[in-house]
Amino acid sequence: MQLVHTVDQLNAALAPARAAAQTIGLVPTMGALHAGHLSLVELAKESSDVVVVSIFVNPKQFGVGEDFDKYPRTLEADTALLEGKADIVFAPSAQDVYPPELEIQTKHAGPVGNLFEGASRPGHFDGMLTVVARLFDLVRPDIAVFGQKDAQQLALVTNLAAADYPGLEVIAAETVREPSGLAMSSRNRFLNSEQFEIAEILAISLLAVCELIESGMAASAALEIGREMISGEPETKLDYLALVDPSTFVPLNDGATGPALLIVAAQVGEVRLIDNLPFQI
Ligand code: PAJ
Repeated sequence: MQLVHTVDQLNAALAPARAAAQTIGLVPTMGALHAGHLSLVELAKESSDVVVVSIFVNPKQFGVGEDFDKYPRTLEADTALLEGKADIVFAPSAQDVYPPELEIQTKHAGPVGNLFEGASRPGHFDGMLTVVARLFDLVRPDIAVFGQKDAQQLALVTNLAAADYPGLEVIAAETVREPSGLAMSSRNRFLNSEQFEIAEILAISLLAVCELIESGMAASAALEIGREMISGEPETKLDYLALVDPSTFVPLNDGATGPALLIVAAQVGEVRLIDNLPFQI
């Protein structure tokens, strides 16, 4: 496994693969890796010859007052976890990703980018798409793996690839969870042991609402029960719990049928967590 930091080093590391027409898989991350990230790397390895994992805490996708400065940076532990799993780890500086002389264009997330996570975190998805497009341009992957955990991000990246990167396949990876059901997240390390237990309520309420809807209850009533379950826990502050169309993120009305996605965002203590559950109505 090679650890590279600059674009020149990345190109040199990828040159043999390009010369041999090997397929390249990309797994973009912000580091602080956990088993969820590693499952993406495994999936990338199954579908490509050479796997590049990028580790970059992207300043453009953090808003004012968000946790950019506090975001965990654990490069040494991350590279140890990736040893034997990734071929190239690309951990660039902001100078390399956004060289001032290149005037990198900001991507715009459009209507999906203004809903839910986009409404709560203005500019987040523009910043996320801008770095993902830059990584696609630098690595030129054949496949890229993203987690279902960040469902709205996945939908936006899938749209970006379809529009601007013909031939690039975006592969979705299932959410990896703690034994309690809590979705793994780099931010979980900021939860104390009590909050770690409280945070289970996100996954528990998603399952409960899904079961209520599947048993015939109107979605609006089921969602209200789910909201009470979350708000009833100490230290939680619910942002949203909603039932949406998985590709447009437009809320579904009672009685809707077909593919559906339950999405939730809540703060537990100071930590903002998101989760979701795809299902069919
Ligand atoms: P990050 O939060 O580090 O996540 C990197 C990738 O891991 C994303 O595709 C995310 O959906 C996936 N992931 C996170 N938790 C997961 C879990 N529990 N199970 C499965 N996959 C999981 O998402 C980002 O970074 C950034 O926005 C990025 C795409 C790198 C752009 O900066």
